[in-house]
Amino acid sequence: EEDPRIQGIRTRIRVVPNFPKPGIMFQDITTLLLDPNAFKNAVDLFVERYKKENISVVAGVEARGFIFGPPIALAIGAKFVPLRKPGKLPGEVISEEYVLEYGKDCLQMHIGAVEPGERALVVDDLIATGGTLCAAMKLLERVGAEVIECACVIELPELKGRERLEGKPLFTLLESL
Ligand code: PRP
Repeated sequence: EEDPRIQGIRTRIRVVPNFPKPGIMFQDITTLLLDPNAFKNAVDLFVERYKKENISVVAGVEARGFIFGPPIALAIGAKFVPLRKPGKLPGEVISEEYVLEYGKDCLQMHIGAVEPGERALVVDDLIATGGTLCAAMKLLERVGAEVIECACVIELPELKGRERLEGKPLFTLLESL
């Protein structure tokens, strides 16, 4: 049932216990990037899903959405828009704050990068609590874009991030503990 390419991707994600702090099982996608075939398979699985969806913008979340987003955008003929941490984008921005386990963070997007009515895909490497993807979707919706789906390589189902998206479609390649 599962696409045969998924298992190859799964085996190339390294899980690093207690990084960056005790109790966190860090899902390291840099080891996936070392295998061009597995990395391409991951990109292809997204491209196959979205190529006929008339998506005009792929929005990638800093930092690892900048790795998976651009090859998907190029392959489906969409523009790529980076959603960045505060103070990184030089032009006029809109901002969305979100709550973390300890404290707050924020994503910003350039005003004018996305126009009303555009069909958008949000890409990141991983969904944990879902706070990051919620903020990303809000940025796009505030400028009048329609978020068709969020796409991640890895989902941590225990953290119930999918529920936090309140019914917004989420597509993930694989689940991890
Ligand atoms: C990680 C991951 C997602 C986010 C998911 O990024 O790459 O962007 O956390 O967490 P959430 O679903 O609980 O919001 P991180 O915060 O490590 O930032 P970085 O990519 O800039 O290192």
